[in-house]
Amino acid sequence: MPVKYYNSMIETVGNTPLVRFNSVNRGIPGTILAKVEYFNPGNSMKDRMAVKMIEDAEARGDIRPGGTIIEGTSGNTGMGLALAAIAKGYRCIFTLADKQSREKIDILRAVGAEVLVCPTAVPPEDPRSYYSVARRLNAEIENSYYPNQYDNLSNTDAHYETTGPEIWRDTDGRVTHYAAGVGTGGSMCGVAKYLKEQNPNIVTVGIDTYGSVFKKYKETGIFDEKEIYPYLTEGIGEDILPANVDFSLIDHFVKVTDKDSAIMTRRLSMEEGMFVGWSCGSAVWGGLEWARDNLREEDVMVIILPDHGTRYLAKVYNDDWMKDHGFHEERDFSSAAAIIAKQSGEDALTSIRSDSRVSEAVSLLTTSDVSQLPVVDGEEFVGSLTDTRLLTRLINDPSIVDKTVGDIMEKPFQFVPADTTIDVLSSMINRDNSAVMVRDEKGLPRIITRHDLLEAISGL
Ligand SMILES: Cc1ncc(COP(=O)(O)O)c(C=O)c1O
Repeated sequence: MPVKYYNSMIETVGNTPLVRFNSVNRGIPGTILAKVEYFNPGNSMKDRMAVKMIEDAEARGDIRPGGTIIEGTSGNTGMGLALAAIAKGYRCIFTLADKQSREKIDILRAVGAEVLVCPTAVPPEDPRSYYSVARRLNAEIENSYYPNQYDNLSNTDAHYETTGPEIWRDTDGRVTHYAAGVGTGGSMCGVAKYLKEQNPNIVTVGIDTYGSVFKKYKETGIFDEKEIYPYLTEGIGEDILPANVDFSLIDHFVKVTDKDSAIMTRRLSMEEGMFVGWSCGSAVWGGLEWARDNLREEDVMVIILPDHGTRYLAKVYNDDWMKDHGFHEERDFSSAAAIIAKQSGEDALTSIRSDSRVSEAVSLLTTSDVSQLPVVDGEEFVGSLTDTRLLTRLINDPSIVDKTVGDIMEKPFQFVPADTTIDVLSSMINRDNSAVMVRDEKGLPRIITRHDLLEAISGL
């Protein structure tokens, strides 16, 4: 067998894995998959378009041997360009906004790039902005190439040629939804174009930030400057309309706050083992928000996770920074005991005997205005009934009204200790498990339903 190797790091770009979410999507229908782009050699999806932009420029003769690459980049594109430059022997100068992570700047310098940090709080046309500085250097330096990731369609083409086909291949054509953060628009629109060519019914969901123009522009056609204000999330949302954003390929936009993005980023690391960057939290929060109301069980949604967590160690992965920005998730430490204490004025638990007729269960569910019933046999809890599942079974087979509850009941609701926290309760009570049981201080059984939990969480 010949020795198997790559000729340089840039040959290892692409073919990143799809990984199923197991926790953050709890209670949301469908199969939801992450395309984990930090497996690229520069730890982000931007490697794909960086290499493509340089190779297309070489093919056109826009950059010649010994040339200089100049780009306004939030870091990830710079990393990809720097890897391409090392493999091909170019010099790199990058301009970036001062809101970018310190780590991103250090990483770029580590791979040999020269980095100029420019102010964030100036409009793009201001000569101090990172867009303007990059343009000026390009005009001044001989044999320099300014890829301009915003308007350079090689960016979209890279995702059209690689990311899209990989998703189609790896889902065996079963993908039904694609969600991605939108910055330059390349990763959303290149993939969307490829997937929609394979199956025009595929739905695309673009994730935008508060402080960016995209969502309003898509929905109204208005470029509203009042939508523009500083925000913290890095990589997505814009105050310009890049040529790579083809609005006809993006079916819907969801806006996500800095805080929700930051909290979801931490959850992806803790709960899924995906140590990813901040815009990944935005993409997942927004994608799941869309999925919650729109996905069916048989649907397959792919959410692209652009980069790696190391670039955000001083920000979302730093507890003090999270606290300073008010981004710490307010964990609710109240418990099952507190929830049932609130119910104490109410009547005793409504339950039904296992030897009752199904018709009696139906009338009890209707008259007592509850959605689920524990089933008892003497003192023992032997099963449960829920109204939605009972209804489905009755529609399929009306003759079951004459059966006994014991014949058709489902497994009993689980008993939990009274000190079970709301965090834990919310992971136990879901679409498949509509309630849990708990004993009050007198030892009497009580039920905690989805409705009770919602009330407790929303502080009602
Ligand atoms: C961290 C991160 N997330 C998301 C994006 C958005 O991707 P695209 O530019 O393909 O729209 C970028 C682009 O800069 C990014 O750096």
